[in-house]
Amino acid sequence: MSFIVAIDGPTSSGKSTISNLISKEMGFVYIQTGAMYRCVALELLKHGIDLEDTEQIGKVLEEIDIHFIRGKDGQNVIMNGEDVTEQIRTKEVTDYCSDVASISEVRHKLLQEQRKMASHSDVVIEGRDTGTTVFPNADVKFFLTASSVVRARRKQQELAALGENLRFIDVLKSVYKWDEDSVKRKEGALKRAKDSIFIDSSEMEVEELKEKMLGIVKEKYKERDEWCI
Ligand code: DC
Repeated sequence: MSFIVAIDGPTSSGKSTISNLISKEMGFVYIQTGAMYRCVALELLKHGIDLEDTEQIGKVLEEIDIHFIRGKDGQNVIMNGEDVTEQIRTKEVTDYCSDVASISEVRHKLLQEQRKMASHSDVVIEGRDTGTTVFPNADVKFFLTASSVVRARRKQQELAALGENLRFIDVLKSVYKWDEDSVKRKEGALKRAKDSIFIDSSEMEVEELKEKMLGIVKEKYKERDEWCI
């Protein structure tokens, strides 16, 4: 049986950075669920498919193939044979993605894919519903957060690295809006699993956070191994 580490939390809480580090250290597959929703959004945009057109959306979902490969500095996202790691990070895709991720057919299909990816491998899966909906029985669940100001600062730096220089106040406003939308939405709302370990990383350096989370994962992994013998 696969060992599942589920990490959920709001935007820019450090989920991707930490999931990448933990999965690398443990030799687990890393499933970045947000990137999967972004792939569907990119594909619909590329083909100019209207979000009301359930038939065309169904066709795209039938044919879409998403997988991840570990790159030098993180994870590369491959959709239908093409490396879309950078294309899925544009503002256009980000803006469209929120509506795309609210379509129940899209969520259903990606949920199946996420479970399939974990059927033969130990995984770190990260997103907003991984410990509640995708893997309610995950071996370890974390809910990772940080203050809005810290998250906005991180987001501003991420965007600057992509060549988008925004004022801090504007990024902070978008973080507030994201938080409001993400708990209100009908499909895939951000929820904290009752049995998740809550971590506020506002005052933590990445290395400290990694050591803390990795320690918990290793402990649980060892316990499961002993239990299985
Ligand atoms: O984490 P992110 O910014 O890459 O996520 C992209 C979009 O997908 C964002 O609108 C949130 C949504 N999403 C979702 O609905 N469910 C998930 N498990 C992960 C992301």
